[in-house]
Amino acid sequence: MKVTAFKTSAMLLALAGVACQSQSPAQTTLPHAVPVATLQELMHSVIDPNVDPLWNAVTTTVTQAGVEEKAPSTDAEWASLRQHALLLIEAGNLLLIPNRTVAVAGASTSIHPVEEDPKAIEALIKAHPEDFGQKALALQTAVKLALVAIDEKNPDGLLKAGEGIEHACEACHAAYWYPNDKRPEAFKAIAHDHLGFNNAGYFKPTLLSALNSHSG
Ligand code: HEC
Repeated sequence: MKVTAFKTSAMLLALAGVACQSQSPAQTTLPHAVPVATLQELMHSVIDPNVDPLWNAVTTTVTQAGVEEKAPSTDAEWASLRQHALLLIEAGNLLLIPNRTVAVAGASTSIHPVEEDPKAIEALIKAHPEDFGQKALALQTAVKLALVAIDEKNPDGLLKAGEGIEHACEACHAAYWYPNDKRPEAFKAIAHDHLGFNNAGYFKPTLLSALNSHSG
């Protein structure tokens, strides 16, 4: 009787083994994510619209009339910021999908001489996929801190997290978009002069004339 019980459980184990084996090939046929937007479109359509509200949520404006502090105050404002933070974190996952085209044919990614063209950017990403992925994860980590601050309804925390997010954007851009830019300090000084706060992590067209005149 004991032997039979043993045999039965051994058979069950064997069956379980077969079941496991037959499951693993099925996993390899799981559908995988297919990129649709170009990297440039992702920056403009997903990343920018979701980071700007976070960066603009807490500001200090100094005018002749005095100092004006702006911070989210209502539940609805915090809830809306939370949605933007979540979308930005998920955008980090979109950056992890391999083989995304950098820009549509004929589009330019170089409005400043130090910015690479799409082909060069694509080659850089292909040559360093792990590093590119790590930089996307670093963006997620930075935005998760913003999410914590949002859940705590903590304007100072959100302001600080905003700086971390800016660094995460900048770290990827410096490596893959303008790897030959030798003027990060000069750029930052000018960016701060022109924008006053922390959303200066990448070249905006409005900054370019200032940058160009600075570099002589
Ligand atoms: C993992 C890498 C990576 C991260 C993180 C990243 N970017 Fe980018 N971004 C790029 C690359 C590569 C380009 C250059 C290609 C291009 O111009 O679209 C770029 C370009 C851009 C552009 C210019 C698009 C154009 O050509 O007109 C904007 C705007 C931008 N990023 C915003 C951001 C902001 C804001 C963040 C942070 C919240 C961010 N990016 C984070 C990789 C990244």
